[in-house]
Amino acid sequence: MARRNIFFTGIIVLNILGLIYAVSENRFDISKLIDGDIDNVRAKSAECVFDKQIRELGAVWTPDLGPPIGVLYCMRCTCVPYHKKKRIVARVQCHSIKNQCPVPTCDDPVVLPGRCCKTCPGDISPDTVQDIVPQNVAEVEEKNGKHYAALLTGRSSLVLKNEFVKPIGDLNKNNVVATGRFSMHKRNLYYSFYISENAARPQSLQFIDNQGNILEEFTLSHAGGYVNSLYQNASRKVCGVWRRLAKDYRKLLKQEKMYAVLVWGTKDPAEFTLSGLITKNSALQTELLSALLEPSPGCDSNSMAGAGGTAIVSLSTTVTPSINVAIMFNGLFMPSELENVPINITLSMDDRRQVVLQEIAKVTKPAIDVNVVNVSATITQAHLRYLTRGRVLLSVSSVTKPEALRLSGNIITKASCEIFQSTLSSSNGANPDSVSGMAWLYLNNAGSLIYNIQIDKLPPKENPPMITLIDTGSKKKTELESLIPYFHGDGWANGTLDKLTPRVLEPLYAGDLAINVATTSDNSLIKGKLTAKPVDEARDAPAPVLLKREYSNLSTATVGLAWISVDNECHLHYDVSITGIGDRKMELWMEMYPFIAPGAPFINKELESFQGNSVEGSPVEVLSREELIKLETGVNFLKVKDASTKVVLLMATVTKVSIPPPCRPYTTSPDNSIPDLYDHPQVVSTGECFFEEKFYKNEEIWVSSKNACQMCFCQNGAAKCDFMTCPEVNCTDGKMITVEGECCSVCVNNSIPPRDQKCSWNGKSYLPSVKFHPFLIPTGFDLCTECYCDPSDLQIKCSRLDDNEKLCCNKNNCNNKFNINDPLSDDFISPDIPDYSVKHQGSEYSKKKENFAAKILEEGGCKNPSNPKKPFANGTEYHPYIDSLGEYKCVTCKCQNGTPNCSRQHCDAQTCKKIQDIKRRKEKFNQSDFCCSPKDCRKLRHKKKHTS
Ligand SMILES: *[C@@H]1O[C@H](CO)[C@@H](O)[C@H](O)[C@H]1NC(C)=O
Ligand SMILES: *[C@@H]1O[C@H](CO)[C@@H](O)[C@H](O)[C@H]1NC(C)=O
Ligand SMILES: *[C@@H]1O[C@H](CO)[C@@H](O)[C@H](O)[C@H]1NC(C)=O
Ligand SMILES: *[C@@H]1O[C@H](CO)[C@@H](O)[C@H](O)[C@H]1NC(C)=O
Ligand SMILES: *[C@@H]1O[C@H](CO)[C@@H](O)[C@H](O)[C@H]1NC(C)=O
Repeated sequence: MARRNIFFTGIIVLNILGLIYAVSENRFDISKLIDGDIDNVRAKSAECVFDKQIRELGAVWTPDLGPPIGVLYCMRCTCVPYHKKKRIVARVQCHSIKNQCPVPTCDDPVVLPGRCCKTCPGDISPDTVQDIVPQNVAEVEEKNGKHYAALLTGRSSLVLKNEFVKPIGDLNKNNVVATGRFSMHKRNLYYSFYISENAARPQSLQFIDNQGNILEEFTLSHAGGYVNSLYQNASRKVCGVWRRLAKDYRKLLKQEKMYAVLVWGTKDPAEFTLSGLITKNSALQTELLSALLEPSPGCDSNSMAGAGGTAIVSLSTTVTPSINVAIMFNGLFMPSELENVPINITLSMDDRRQVVLQEIAKVTKPAIDVNVVNVSATITQAHLRYLTRGRVLLSVSSVTKPEALRLSGNIITKASCEIFQSTLSSSNGANPDSVSGMAWLYLNNAGSLIYNIQIDKLPPKENPPMITLIDTGSKKKTELESLIPYFHGDGWANGTLDKLTPRVLEPLYAGDLAINVATTSDNSLIKGKLTAKPVDEARDAPAPVLLKREYSNLSTATVGLAWISVDNECHLHYDVSITGIGDRKMELWMEMYPFIAPGAPFINKELESFQGNSVEGSPVEVLSREELIKLETGVNFLKVKDASTKVVLLMATVTKVSIPPPCRPYTTSPDNSIPDLYDHPQVVSTGECFFEEKFYKNEEIWVSSKNACQMCFCQNGAAKCDFMTCPEVNCTDGKMITVEGECCSVCVNNSIPPRDQKCSWNGKSYLPSVKFHPFLIPTGFDLCTECYCDPSDLQIKCSRLDDNEKLCCNKNNCNNKFNINDPLSDDFISPDIPDYSVKHQGSEYSKKKENFAAKILEEGGCKNPSNPKKPFANGTEYHPYIDSLGEYKCVTCKCQNGTPNCSRQHCDAQTCKKIQDIKRRKEKFNQSDFCCSPKDCRKLRHKKKHTS
């Protein structure tokens, strides 16, 4: 178990109203103890985080505070719900169980290890240490009880019973209606909504109990209607998942006591809402098509205000096809109609020329919010085809007032949000070219099948391949449809299959539909069976990525498909499916590069360890904004590694992951160009510089690859460059020659020096005899110093040009001329220059300086690497001077008897908190003010998490 790394100096137990809270003396820790470390563990508002574990409402456990306190055996903690306005949120409450201990029966009772109460030998211990509600025990799913539906209209009983939402009345002028579908998988509730076309996308979705308490809320769209999901935008559906429903909420759902509420507007109370009770309906298990019913044109808009309905349509496509329609509706009753009211149900072609089905159903006891009727009939093959193409209109009307009281809507694609996907791989093993692929499909509102198929490594001679849909459920493995037999350069076949027939729809939902890719030489080169997947956060991505085989020892049939996306709360989600990998332990990693260039810095994140052929989730550690933006602007590699050997088994390139606007970094450059991002030390904590397609480390010096006279250095992510003018050379006896890749020409006599003999200084080599100005950080070329590569010993000799005042003034401070009388004047020269000599040897001022410095050194002083004339006196403390940073406050040195003792100030949590505060206030962050970079801080947090 992960333990929190907090060191308590003591613990006080407070007894407030019978509840005992564990409070550390350190006030800073209480919130952490109670609310959890939100930085590291992500939980919903109605969940408790304690000791880095997420616990659901109602969970009871014995708290373990980790070292040095350990388990508090006399305490019990519970995750309890409490009201925060209309919301139900969770809180950890802990109380002592000591007073529940029975009176011991002997004189010398003892506390056994791991127990709270004193007991005598033979007593049955009353307190056992265990989580009373076991965590993460997946309940056996009820086969028939996992599908639910809701009709959301202005006539919901929730609106009538509670005043927590404004009655919509005038607000629902357009008579907006919505319907929802819900299904439970493990402890997650997947939801889908269809909403009237005249309504905008709602702002949020709430789940509410029958008292009007908000149990959970989801943001559906941001200001400006931004929808970060290709599928949801294309289908106009609202899709998502409520993960980890607490046991009590699963119970509410089963008892049909939970409401779904769609909220438009952000004000509180919400501007406009639609709500509906979530109910079971057995027809949902076989639903193939759905309908949203709205008041028909020409009806009595007053009597029908707020009314609506939905239909759950099942089909059987045997020789004699049949249809079953379950309808949930309201609003079709006259005030006088109280019992056994007949309702006219008509299915007709949408041009109303042909009737498919007509039946009168009776509603025994009309309800204001939801009534359910069911009709079944046999239909013709032709009608079946029209149905799957969205050409059939369903109308439900009052028998007494058929024109005034009528709801209608076309029967269209199933309301649930589903994407069908498959990896494509060779089944027979013969796959010399390692061809692999993937496919993903969905149905749009017009009933067309949108397909995207990617094939990798298809030999050009095999293009175009034959791509077909096959019904594997039928005995003959019937080929149903032929898809685009044409590949674009990018290896994709994208298209739409209009006029979908029931022969495709039925196997599609039954999980029998497969995609087969055949070539002239192989009639089943690669194939895969499509599976329906609910649209969760990861599937909001515009497309999945193909995980290609990296490790050649794997079978050529190994391939994967991964969805990656970032949700409105800025969390990364992934969903990976792999074929042909066998049963081994694996790890999922994300490697993030700003772009691919030599030396590019990268961030490597382990997302999850897993076993089996699929993994879905979200990293527990939240990605920073700077990391998120890399997913959008950078190049990222998703890698599946073997957990023991760390060999990369599969890999995919992930780019352009769209990041919702609120999740972008606070500071981005105005034009958003990528390299520009790297000029902001606060954005790139790594400090590398990008220059001429290459990355350089902080403080590195280099010569431009395009201009030999340009030299640069990297300072906190910014490349600082300077151009050199070569010193004048008096070449009366020789000949000037220019060597390629060298900035300054060299004067050679009769003998040309061999090329491989060069002087070398500061990472650059110089031709013998060449004269140059040294390049210094941070000022650039020092035109007041002239250096020379001595051909006799290949040493660089430099001299100060005091006489060339005009030139020196350009670079040094002219207004601040050297004060000849001041022995400490900042007559700066890089100490790195060997054999430094001042031209006016013997002049009074230089002697004075030398004497002064020599005296300090004699008395136990330390050399000053940045200014030889200003040594540090014995016993003084100082910060070293680093060219690129100036005085470097993170290192403190003390001069002791001629030896500097330096120590670096380590990055600590306090400094990190300061940095975080600055960032939170969106103030400019100057890294040299602190001894930590944001990266150090993240490392610190990470380390804390893992070493504890
Ligand atoms: C969303 O859908 C609309 C209409 O279908 C389309 O015009 C728009 O480009 C889509 N936006 C995105 C981000 O896909
Ligand atoms: C039911 O409605 C259809 C068309 O809406 C109409 O033709 C038919 O007469 C109605 N049947 C009854 C019994 O009202
Ligand atoms: C096909 O669709 C994929 C995924 O949406 C996309 O990346 C690709 O560019 C498309 N190719 C063509 C030719 O439309
Ligand atoms: C070049 O050097 C020669 C002798 O070494 C000297 O006579 C001459 O004046 C110098 N020329 C210049 C321009 O400095
Ligand atoms: C340097 O200072 C220390 C402590 O002040 C002193 O003991 C030592 O003698 C000094 N060294 C010299 C060489 O003066």
